[in-house]
Amino acid sequence: MMSGTLIFESSLSDKAARYKELLPQLEALIHGEKDETACLANAAAALAECFHFFWVGFYRVQQTQLILGPFQGPVACTRIHKGKGVCGTAWEKNQTILVPDVEEFPGHIACSSLSRSEIVVPIHFTNGDVAAILDVDSTELNNFDEQDRLGLEAFCKLLEKHLYSA
Ligand code: SME
Repeated sequence: MMSGTLIFESSLSDKAARYKELLPQLEALIHGEKDETACLANAAAALAECFHFFWVGFYRVQQTQLILGPFQGPVACTRIHKGKGVCGTAWEKNQTILVPDVEEFPGHIACSSLSRSEIVVPIHFTNGDVAAILDVDSTELNNFDEQDRLGLEAFCKLLEKHLYSA
């Protein structure tokens, strides 16, 4: 897709319907484009537009660190070590982490004091290693639930297949 407008007709509160509308539009956005930065940049923009999240972005695995990639929102920390913060923990444990209250997460890295809850989803290479992580932050406490986990994992699966599969 060269350019275009995203269309969301479901109510912002109907998360499942909203993710269902988002996924085919992500597919259309990345179709025919293999450049990692270009695809992640549009993926972050589409997700931010769909839910008006405070911060949406990717960190890419580079040797022993995560390095900030394409994102939408306020400026953020550029490097996170394995096992550090929510992002580094999701990488180390290779699992989605849902944080209802960032103040309750030991070692949480506060890029913005406005961020109150977050969800982090790993994106894998075919061999299961983590290629990147998706981080989504909200200014509301307890903003993320199972619908977000399912929706964002499906979102990341599309990126996995498109960018990181052999
Ligand atoms: N809160 C994250 C750091 C990244 S920013 O929120 C964009 C963490 O604890 O890993």
